[in-house]
Amino acid sequence: MAAVLALRGVSVWVPGPPRVDLIADADWTVLAGEHWALLGPNGAGKTSLLSVVSAQRHPSAGTADVLGQRLGRVDMRALRERIAVVDAPTAARIPGQLPLSDVALTGASGTILPRYERYTDADRADAAARLDEVGLKALQHRRFQDCSQGERARALLARALVQRPELLLLDEAASGLDLPAREALLAAVAGVAGGLTTITVTHHVEELPPTTTHGLLLRGGRVVGGGPLAETLTDAAMSETFGLPVRVRHDEGRWSATAAGSWRP
Ligand SMILES: Nc1ncnc2c1ncn2[C@@H]1O[C@H](COP(=O)(O)OP(=O)(O)OP(=O)(O)O)[C@@H](O)[C@H]1O
Ligand SMILES: [Mg+2]
Repeated sequence: MAAVLALRGVSVWVPGPPRVDLIADADWTVLAGEHWALLGPNGAGKTSLLSVVSAQRHPSAGTADVLGQRLGRVDMRALRERIAVVDAPTAARIPGQLPLSDVALTGASGTILPRYERYTDADRADAAARLDEVGLKALQHRRFQDCSQGERARALLARALVQRPELLLLDEAASGLDLPAREALLAAVAGVAGGLTTITVTHHVEELPPTTTHGLLLRGGRVVGGGPLAETLTDAAMSETFGLPVRVRHDEGRWSATAAGSWRP
C-alpha cells in the first residue's frame, strides 16, 4: 500500500525570540485508503500538524512526504491541488451570496471565487452529483449564507469532493453542529470515504465517522500514541492525551468519552 503521508521527526516552531514550539518530533505514516482521526485537546497542535500535511507550511525540522512528494523540494501549490480541506477558515472565505451549486462548483477550479469561464458541463454535472451525494440536492439554489451551519458543512464537503482529491482533510468540520446535523455530516463523510484517504481532526471522539480506521493522539505538540483506532483509543492513552481520567466506550462503530469515576475539576 502506498504511503500518502510519511512524517519523520517533524518539528514545527515559530522562530523567536522567544521561539514557540508547535510540534515536536512527530512520526506519522498514513497509507492509501486509511481513515485517520487526529485527536487532542485545544492547543495540542492538531491544526499546526495539519498545516504541514496540507502543504501549507514546511516542517522546521525533519522530513515530510505528502502524496509521494518531499516538502521543500516540490511546488507546494501544485501539491495543494491534490488535497482538499474542509475547515472553518475556508467556510469563512466563501461569499455568502453564492448558491450551493456554485459553492460546490468552485471545487473544480480549486478557488474560493467561481471561475465560470473555466467550468465544463461535466464539472456542473459533477457538482450536482456531489451535492446530491451529501443530501443537498433540494438546496442547490439556496445561498450559502442562508444555509444552516450543518448544511454549509456538507456543502463544503461536496466542494471538496468536486476537487477530486487524493487526500481529504476535515478540521473540526462538525464543530457547532447539533445532533441531527452532526449525524448527517458524519453519514455523508462515511458515504464518500471509500476510495479516499481521509484525516478527521477533532477533540470529540463522538464526531468520528464510523469509517475511521486509525487514530493519532496529540498533546502539547507531541504524539502520545497512534495506530489502529481500537488499539489507540484506550482509557489510559485518552486520559494522558486529555489530562484527566477518561473512560472510552465503543458501540456499533461509534465512540464516546467521558470523565471517569468521581473525577472533579
Ligand atoms: N503562529 C503562531 N504563533 C504562536 N503560537 C502559535 C502559532 N500558531 C499556533 N500557535 C499556538 O500553538 C498551539 C497549537 O495550536 P493549534 O491551532 O495547532 O492547536 P489545535 O490542536 O488545532 O487546537 P484547537 O483544538 O483549539 O483547534 C496553540 O497554543 C497556539 O496558540
Ligand atoms: Mg485546531
